[in-house]
Amino acid sequence: MCGIVGATAQRNVAPIILTGLSRLEYRGYDSAGICTLENDEFNCLKTTSKVATLINKVKERGCKGFLGIAHTRWATHGIPSETNAHPHICGNLALVHNGIIENFKELKAKLQEKGYVFKSETDTEVLLCLIHYHQQDSNSLKEALLKALNEVTGSYAIALINKSEPGVLYTARSGSPLVIGLGIGENFVASDVLALLPVTRRFIYLDEQEVAIVTTDKIDVCGLDGKEHIKKAQDADLDAESISKGSFDHFMQKEIFEQPSSLRNTLTERLDDDSVRLETVIGLKKDSFKDLQNIQIVACGTSFHAGLVGKYWFEELTHIPCNVDIASEYRYRHAVVGNNSLFITISQSGETADTLASLRLAKTQGYKNSLCICNVNGSSLVRESDFTLLTRAGAEIGVASTKAFTTQLLSLLMLALIIAEQKGSLTAQKRHELIESIRQLPSLCEKFLSKDKDILALASEFADKHHCLFLGRGVMYPIALEGALKLKEISYIHAEGYAAGELKHGPIALIDRNMPVVVVAPDNALMGKLVSNIEEVRARGGKLYIFNSEEHVLKADTQTKVISLSDCPEILQPILFTIPLQLLAYHCAVINGTDVDQPRNLAKSVTVE
Ligand code: F6R
Repeated sequence: MCGIVGATAQRNVAPIILTGLSRLEYRGYDSAGICTLENDEFNCLKTTSKVATLINKVKERGCKGFLGIAHTRWATHGIPSETNAHPHICGNLALVHNGIIENFKELKAKLQEKGYVFKSETDTEVLLCLIHYHQQDSNSLKEALLKALNEVTGSYAIALINKSEPGVLYTARSGSPLVIGLGIGENFVASDVLALLPVTRRFIYLDEQEVAIVTTDKIDVCGLDGKEHIKKAQDADLDAESISKGSFDHFMQKEIFEQPSSLRNTLTERLDDDSVRLETVIGLKKDSFKDLQNIQIVACGTSFHAGLVGKYWFEELTHIPCNVDIASEYRYRHAVVGNNSLFITISQSGETADTLASLRLAKTQGYKNSLCICNVNGSSLVRESDFTLLTRAGAEIGVASTKAFTTQLLSLLMLALIIAEQKGSLTAQKRHELIESIRQLPSLCEKFLSKDKDILALASEFADKHHCLFLGRGVMYPIALEGALKLKEISYIHAEGYAAGELKHGPIALIDRNMPVVVVAPDNALMGKLVSNIEEVRARGGKLYIFNSEEHVLKADTQTKVISLSDCPEILQPILFTIPLQLLAYHCAVINGTDVDQPRNLAKSVTVE
């Protein structure tokens, strides 16, 4: 979703903030803009196209200065247009904003009464005019900004500049992420650290409802009450190379092929002979889960699918009941919280608005503890949870989540083993066997990736289809859901995942020779049941694509394509059988010519509700 970059320096900041903006493209956007302060005047350029077009405009028309802000916009209020694109300007002020000002209509009406005329349809311009309005009854821009921020409801991350304060960048956050990058004689702000890695590795993370006044040599942070906050700087654990495609055509492809190493990283120094080390979960104590009686998982999208797999594992390995909810549902239902309950959130970004809101709600509902499984250290979820399990997938740039998902699954499995040990639900021998299986995961992942060419061939048959069903049983059912989500979000082929046993309760009506049916069929205890479901499809002329284990090869025929994959321990099947489905979606998208890394209408980090 929207991206912010800003800089104050003793050199031209335009190239820095434009590079930062390109590095935020992955978040998803539909327009972009830049504003610098040049000879005491704002120079503002915008586009409804890509950041590359903005960069060309800057080259052609010139735009430079020692102070500047830039933005990629993902439309919420008003269509993507240059008028609605940020930065917005009102008098001496220019503003970029991420998030949603919920009371913008009331504020707009009040400001209109005071004579303000709005050019755009955005809530951002309302916030800007409100700050401008408060300048009249304030001694400083800081005071005006605080007055305005105390009046708005909703979420924001902002960067604001003032014509009469050439070296000063004002910034604030509430509900949307913002980091301050520290340079030598220059400082920066951005929506995430990736934007600023070419210029710094040292960051201050703004907390909720904090305002910062950033100059070339000083950062002053305060709360919305104006009281000073002391902040510590931290070094980023990513480097600038994290967002290079290397020899791959797309980030998604690179990230799929990075999975052996991301899984290896997730495991590094976390396994003993028959236990997962306690320090794998930051903040955890030896007996944190001893009295645990209930688990509630909350997440969105792909991370929700990881949670669904987690339910099977937690119930099987720890014998603790586990509930899984979509975050946007959880936050508006009246959940009943059992005794000694653990609230788990799962998120790649750690900034997903609904997941974060659910965590904040859970904290008022009587859960014993909260734990987040997250890929971004320092993110809001990490900072607000009692315990953290970092997935260590590395930066994920492709909008479609791939390596984040498989490392989330591995993290859930490790967490299940930690809980099982503290609850005594598994013998040391059984834990040892599972850990030995887990150790094989990175190398097995390589074997699954080696089927890439076969899957490319399959995709060429598949890419012209308009609809598709994905079937799985048991713990493979969430993997069928994930396979369908991956295919639809990047290739735009309509796909649905079903529990194979549900077929005859409705979806079987869709089966004919034009309906491809993908079956996730590793050799496991439910194979016999799944074979019956496969026969139901075959009997109705459906075209079957079966991802199968070598051990138990199902028969291919004119109606049935079988892709046999390496044998693997049953516990690893959900992780490994995800890989061919990611590859299938990827190749279909490439064949269909879609924008693989930034599919239409999607944002990487969904920071608004
Ligand atoms: C799909 C995808 C999304 C995210 C969802 C949650 O490929 O990436 O469904 O999984 O938006 O995002 P996080 O995990 O950042 O909370």
